[in-house]
Amino acid sequence: MVQLTGPKKIKCAVFISGTGSNLKSLIQFSKKKNSPISIELIISDNAKAKGLKFGKIFKISNKVFNYKNKIVAEKKIISEVKNKKIKLICLAGFMKILSKNFIKSFKGQILNIHPSLLPKYKGLNTHQRALSNNEKYSGCTVHFVNSRLDSGKIILQKMVKINKHDTTKSLSQKILIEEHKLYPKAISKIFSL
Ligand code: GAR
Repeated sequence: MVQLTGPKKIKCAVFISGTGSNLKSLIQFSKKKNSPISIELIISDNAKAKGLKFGKIFKISNKVFNYKNKIVAEKKIISEVKNKKIKLICLAGFMKILSKNFIKSFKGQILNIHPSLLPKYKGLNTHQRALSNNEKYSGCTVHFVNSRLDSGKIILQKMVKINKHDTTKSLSQKILIEEHKLYPKAISKIFSL
């Protein structure tokens, strides 16, 4: 993992596909005096991602890459990220699976947040599956990204209680509130000396 040395902050890119509420919380975290990161780049596969507005609001450069050809898109992203000397990539609701080659290019430098208590409910529709299985608890996980989906080393998790009236919407909202706290905490944890 990249070491935090001196007063300089680690340059970070956040990858999104949708609303970007985690992006917003990471930007707010990055602006704190003791935050180890500065967010230099926002990347999306989706030109309509609502979260792109945070790039404009906080004056962070936004780039959208067309994923019709994944190999070409990833090549461009790799060069953009390397040009900007980014040392940490935070996936925050980025709904494309990164290739092995991409992950190898940033070994130990990619984090993801997932809305379940991994290793339970990897992949999509996590809330629906947790509810259908009558789980009593769900939650969220921040982990390093490796070449197997949602399987990298876990950094932090937070449990959330499921009530009998919860729907996918209410559960996702409850978990998102915890995600917004967990991601900054996990980043602080990996850079704590
Ligand atoms: C979050 O719940 C995040 O954990 C999830 O997408 C949502 C994005 O919300 N990510 C995944 O499911 C990745 N497999 P946001 O755009 O408001 O941050």
